[in-house]
Parts: sequence; structure tokens; C-alpha cells
Amino acid sequence: MFDGVAARYDLTNTVLSFGQDRFWRRATRAALELRPGDRVLDVGAGTGVSTEELAHSGAYAVGADLSLGMLYAGKRTRPHVPLLAGDALRLPFADASFDAVTISFALRNVNDTDAALRELARVTRPGGRLVVCEFSTPVNPAFRTVYLSYLMRSLPAVARAVASNPDAYVYLAESIRAWPDQAALADRISSAGWRRVAWRNLTGGVVALHRAIRDESAI
Ligand SMILES: C[S@@+](CC[C@H](N)C(=O)[O-])C[C@H]1O[C@@H](n2cnc3c(N)ncnc32)[C@H](O)[C@@H]1O
Repeated sequence: MFDGVAARYDLTNTVLSFGQDRFWRRATRAALELRPGDRVLDVGAGTGVSTEELAHSGAYAVGADLSLGMLYAGKRTRPHVPLLAGDALRLPFADASFDAVTISFALRNVNDTDAALRELARVTRPGGRLVVCEFSTPVNPAFRTVYLSYLMRSLPAVARAVASNPDAYVYLAESIRAWPDQAALADRISSAGWRRVAWRNLTGGVVALHRAIRDESAI
């Protein structure tokens, strides 16, 4: 599916999110508290748009993704961003290789969420940081109703005009609706080798940033 949307992925994102995606990416970088020289892994990096933002911190940022179509699109538009093929469930890195790991708008797409969270912990050094940037549940009930209506009705219609594979955006809407809310995802992260889990809502909870620290004793 991601091979099919790769060609116009970056543009479609910005249109469908009314430009908010840039703000969400900057907030993800800030939440990771990266320092120059840190090694950070961006899992489900796609075209590298999220990886490129991380590098602005001075950290060494590398992206991994399962879709060769997304990676090729990224190599064309961002040849300077290190991207490699890799499965979130079997990352091609040794234990404790990274100071920080992050996954933006991709954890929802991985077949086994809990296994992916454990695999992220495996490649993070004890005491290292995790930030999950993912669609979530708007906190205000009135806004939530308007947002869900946008998601299920308008978003697929707009996607038909801009996306290279509009059907993928019907999946996007349905997968967001089925995804655990902020507290439920925090519980899943805590059970997968992470401690001090906390979250911050962005755009009223359309997106949530979950932060955690790699448990020294886990995995
Ligand atoms: C919506 S895109 C997100 C791309 C980018 N992180 C961003 O913020 O725009 C989701 C990505 O997750 C990738 N993905 C899905 N399952 C994966 C897995 N098991 N391992 C690695 N990447 C995966 C897809 O190929 C896709 O590129």
C-alpha cells in the first residue's frame, strides 16, 4: 500500500493535515531532547520526511522502513538522509545501538504493535528515549465529532483529488478510528520495556506524542 502512495506522499500529508504535519514533526524532535552527536533511529521513516527533521538537532538520524517504494521516493527527494530497508519487528541493529528511537505515524501500521514496541526497546540503550508520534483521540467531545466526520467523509474525498492511491486514505481514516486512545497506548508502551511513560496532545488530541525511557532492567 505504501509503495502505491509514495510518489505524492509528502504533498498529500501536508494537504490533508492543513499543514499541521510540519508542526507535529518539530514537536516530535523537541520531545526527543536530542543533543549533537546522539544517535537516533526513525522507524517507519517512509520518504525520510520525519528523519530529516530530526537531523536539524545535530544528532545523527537514520531512518528505516519496510516499503522500498517509500525509500526510493525518499532517496530521490532527500539524497542526504540516511535511509535503509528494515522491518520494525526485526530491526537490523544490535542491542542498545541508539540513544533515542522514534516512530511517526507508523506504529499504527505495523502488524504487531506490542512486538514493535519491544523491538524499539531492544535497540535503545538503557536510559535512552522513545517518542511515538501518532494520531489519537481529540479530547473535546464537540471537536471530536467534527474531526471524525472530516476523517470518514471529507478526507477520502480530498485524497481522491491529490493522492496517488486514494484507497489508501480510506484505510488511513479507518485505522485512526480503530487505534487506542492516549491512556490505552501509554499502557501498551509501559508493558513493552519502557518506564516513565507520559503523553502530550497536539492539535487538541488529533495527534499525541508519547514519551518514555528505556527500562534498564527490561528485554
Ligand atoms: C504513514 S507512513 C509514515 C512515514 C513518516 N514516518 C512520516 O512521519 O511521514 C508509515 C510508514 O510505516 C511503514 N511501515 C509499516 N509497517 C512497517 C514495518 N513493519 N516496519 C517498518 N516500516 C513499516 C510504511 O512502509 C510507511 O512508510
